[in-house]
Amino acid sequence: MQFSKRIQSMQFSPIRKLTPFADEAKKQGKKVFHLNIGQPDIETPETFFEAINNFKENVLKYTNSQGIDPLIDSFIEYYKQWDIDFERNEIMITNGGSEAILFAIMAICDFGDEIIIPEPFYTNYNGFSEAAGVNVVSFITKAENGFHLPCKEEITSKITDKTKAILISNPGNPTGVVYTYEEVRMLADIAKEYNLYIIADEVYREFVYDNLKYTSALYMTDILDRVILIDSISKRYSACGARIGLVASKNKELIKQILKLCQSRLCVPTIEQVAAANLINTPKEYFTKVKAEYENRRNILYSSLVNIPGIVCEKPTGAFYIVVKLPINDAEHFSQWLLTDFHYNNATVMVAPAGGFYSNPELGKNEIRISYCLNSKDLEEAMDILSKGLEKYKELF
Ligand SMILES: Cc1ncc(COP(=O)(O)O)c(C=O)c1O
Repeated sequence: MQFSKRIQSMQFSPIRKLTPFADEAKKQGKKVFHLNIGQPDIETPETFFEAINNFKENVLKYTNSQGIDPLIDSFIEYYKQWDIDFERNEIMITNGGSEAILFAIMAICDFGDEIIIPEPFYTNYNGFSEAAGVNVVSFITKAENGFHLPCKEEITSKITDKTKAILISNPGNPTGVVYTYEEVRMLADIAKEYNLYIIADEVYREFVYDNLKYTSALYMTDILDRVILIDSISKRYSACGARIGLVASKNKELIKQILKLCQSRLCVPTIEQVAAANLINTPKEYFTKVKAEYENRRNILYSSLVNIPGIVCEKPTGAFYIVVKLPINDAEHFSQWLLTDFHYNNATVMVAPAGGFYSNPELGKNEIRISYCLNSKDLEEAMDILSKGLEKYKELF
């Protein structure tokens, strides 16, 4: 039996593809520190579980396709804290930010259309684009300048008559970059000049460090009909398993079109929507503590990295990832070797080779992505192991 060209051209997730080697290492009794995945270890707020405990319906019904009103209203209230105004008919609740990305792409692109994305990028942008028959066209951002955007001309040189949107993750996964006001403004100008959408994936909005000011694409008030917001509670409230996200836009007609996709998948899980609606009652201190925790981890990670000879990276200012250039040729081989052939005190680390975060197969070959979703003590130990592993690897290869 044959498979579609579409499914065959999709890649397996670079974040998970070394998992069998990690499982084998664990079977052999080694401890594996997971620096590969963005699964926060922070506790989900109690407000979420309280709502689940209070759920007393006798029948677990479908909800409407747009999502339940209390959840939509809670998001409207949340955005007010960020000086962003949404109305009910500008938001669709989705199965995580993931479904929001897919729906946004499907709603604005036809088969063969193009989306421009700075690379390295969140690998599922590629997966969803492939699935929708849309081509990703990328421009390069570099470790040497912390993955900030290149000049306007470098971006506009990628635009063709098939380009429909620029897709950004801000703060960035996998890079940890936080774009400045000027960078977001430049993208807004390009969108206006070339009649494009901006798909703004802002799922890490809370995680901006060093007292930097965050610039949402929705602050560009002259292009609001072009901005499609992707959001999620996965990272904000450490609630990845809830699968609650949203796609939102001040372009009401676009949201109305997306409703067709929402209707075809009926609805988002009912209990999780009810629970997510109560997250708005989470005390403010939750974010203050969580942010301070991540910022501290970022500092630990960065100070370990700068002590490793030959490494190239800028201090990331957002999200909980960093892409690091290593003084080796094949980061994928190194990442696998760490799991199969190396341990220190019977422990090793799993990292994500960064090649999979690029669309150009020649790029990122000597880079890895490290996620700092481990507590500080484990992170220190994991970085020590990584550094010793790299030293050993350089002797051998
Ligand atoms: C940039 C970015 N966007 C979207 C998502 C999707 O998250 P979810 O589907 O859990 O909301 C992720 C998950 O890691 C992400 O890093």
